[in-house]
Amino acid sequence: MSDFADRLIRWHRHHGRHDLPWQNTTDPYRIWLSEIMLQQTQVDTVIPYYARFLARFPDLATLAAAPVDEVMALWSGLGYYARARNLHACARTVMTEHGGQFPARAEAIAALPGIGRSTAAAIATFAFGQRAAILDGNVKRVLCRAFGVDGFPGSVAVERRLWALADALLPATDVPVYIQAQMDLGATVCTRGKPRCPDCPMQPICVAHATGRTTELPEARPR
Ligand code: ADE
Repeated sequence: MSDFADRLIRWHRHHGRHDLPWQNTTDPYRIWLSEIMLQQTQVDTVIPYYARFLARFPDLATLAAAPVDEVMALWSGLGYYARARNLHACARTVMTEHGGQFPARAEAIAALPGIGRSTAAAIATFAFGQRAAILDGNVKRVLCRAFGVDGFPGSVAVERRLWALADALLPATDVPVYIQAQMDLGATVCTRGKPRCPDCPMQPICVAHATGRTTELPEARPR
């Protein structure tokens, strides 16, 4: 296993988040819903919405059968409303095209409405134990700093490089823990504003830290 993955997994045991409402389940419906809500919204904001949503729509079939207006109403306040429309469309697609069962492979999940490559990998990993790398905003930041990756991470060239790096770093086992650890490190330690480098398991191997570039990486969108 890479030193990177090994450090992350060991760190997660004591410092990761273990009791979020969408953890300790492998129900793809619950995991999918959480990943969509968490795409552009922080954990603390998501938690009450997630609970209300599940109380009204406890499973995929209930969500698919509901009028879209009701889904939008429960989403009200979370923002990025295309997520809610896609959520509803996705529930209907899984009912009609997959017999009500979420597909297990990341490639098949990524073909559903509103689900990109990274979210598909998170669902495939957490719900189905598949081995797939993620690359969301938090992970991009961690990789750019740890490996000193220059350039704007939203550009096609840098993003391609980061995906290759993410794929190469993926451990053979413990993938769900590793994925959750990446998310947690980016959200709680390797943050955008004030990274907590003294608390970071990557500090000894972090290129940005060694070269004093932590606040410069990842690079901003060129203007
Ligand atoms: N952000 C995106 N997915 C997440 C997850 N599973 N846990 C915490 N934050 C996340």
